Amino acid sequence: MDRVNEIRRGTLQEQTFYEQVGGEETFRRLVHRFYEGVAEDPLLRPMYPEEDLGPAEERLALFLIQYWGGPTTYSDNRGHPRLRMRHAPFTVDRAAHDAWLKHMRVAVEELGLSEEHEHTLWKYLTYAAASMVNTAG
Ligand code: HEM
Repeated sequence: MDRVNEIRRGTLQEQTFYEQVGGEETFRRLVHRFYEGVAEDPLLRPMYPEEDLGPAEERLALFLIQYWGGPTTYSDNRGHPRLRMRHAPFTVDRAAHDAWLKHMRVAVEELGLSEEHEHTLWKYLTYAAASMVNTAG
C-alpha cells in the first residue's frame, strides 16, 4: 500500500503558502531586496517619508507574512491593513506602480521559488499593485 494511505484521515495538515515557500526568512529576503531597489530609485525613494527605510521594510514584511498565512504581527501592531487608505497620502500613478513592480520582480526572481509558487506570488503582487493606483496619468 502507498505509505500516504496509512496516515490516519484528518491528521495530514495542509501547509500554508507561507510555510511552503520557507516562512519568515523568505519574506524578509524578498522585502529586503525590494527596498534595496527602492533606495536607489529616483521616483520612489522621495515618496517614503522616513529617512530610514528600515521601518517601512518591517511593515511590508509583516504585512506579507500575515497575508500568506504566517503570524498576525502586522495587524497586532497596525490594526486592519486598509492598504488603499494608507496609500492615499502618496501619488501612486502608473509610473510609481511600474517602478514598484520592477523592484519587486527582481526580488521575487532572486528567491528562486518553484515555478508555481513564483506564479502565485507574482499574480498577487501585480493585482495588489494595480489596486493601489490612486492617481491617473
Ligand atoms: C503600486 C505602487 C506602490 C507604491 C508607490 C507604494 C508606496 C508606499 C509608501 C510610500 C508607503 C509609506 C511607507 C511606510 O510608511 O511604510 C507604503 C506603505 C505600505 N505599503 Fe505600499 N506602495 C505600493 C504598493 C503596495 C502594494 C502592492 C502593497 C501590498 C502588497 C503595499 C503594501 C504596503 C504596506 C503594508 C505599507 C505599510 C502600511 C502601514 O502599516 O502603514 N504597497 N507604500
